[in-house]
Amino acid sequence: MQIDVVGTVNEARSDDFYHKTVIVIDVLRATSTIATALEHGCAGIIPVETVSQAVKLQTGEYMLGGERFCKKLAGFDLGNSPLEYTREELAGKQVILTTTNGTRALQKSQKAENILAGSLLNASACAKAAVELKRDIVILCAGTLDMFSIEDGLCAGFIVDEIGRLVNEQIALNDLGIAMRLACAQAKEAMEQILLESAHGKKLTKLGYRDDVVFCSRINVFSLVPILKNQLLVPYTSSKSDLRS
Ligand code: MLT
Repeated sequence: MQIDVVGTVNEARSDDFYHKTVIVIDVLRATSTIATALEHGCAGIIPVETVSQAVKLQTGEYMLGGERFCKKLAGFDLGNSPLEYTREELAGKQVILTTTNGTRALQKSQKAENILAGSLLNASACAKAAVELKRDIVILCAGTLDMFSIEDGLCAGFIVDEIGRLVNEQIALNDLGIAMRLACAQAKEAMEQILLESAHGKKLTKLGYRDDVVFCSRINVFSLVPILKNQLLVPYTSSKSDLRS
């Protein structure tokens, strides 16, 4: 199984995604928020690239969520903080979501056979789902405005490591995949600190979202994996009962 880790959305070549499983990662915060929303009973998330697309799709039956410059958009119901995506807010509702980098990465992945949303919260479950889907894998790190983000790279490293373990190391990695796998072995015990010290973690802390950074730094707390089906992110249904253990 070939696994390529791509460091930013700009570096991704979407024509290379045919017949592959793409795992999109935006640890701070889009894919962590998506996993949290579905875990809390959200009926599905429609990821869109632009604010105007989000507003155009809104018909009253959806909630609108998202950010620009990390802040909730005027007139939107929700921002991009996973802590806002509670059971009380979401149960049974669908959300149209637009974020600066995360939903852009999901859009860029459209040519893939399968599109999953990965984060530290569901890293191990994501690895298991990707193995079950039996395709070569691209792990697309969303980054921040076309700059590499350490939290996305380390999460990619965890997923690579877990896939390696699951398939008895029958994997071939690109260079960034090798580097991130090595780095994540050093990082596991210090994840919260690393995220707080990362460029995006510092920015979010400055804006008052330190709790989001801490929340998103937890590893393998969800067994749910968001998968894009007909433009809607919904929980992946595994043939096995629990993707986490
Ligand atoms: C994004 O998609 O760019 C991020 O999730 C930004 C954020 O932290 O809100």
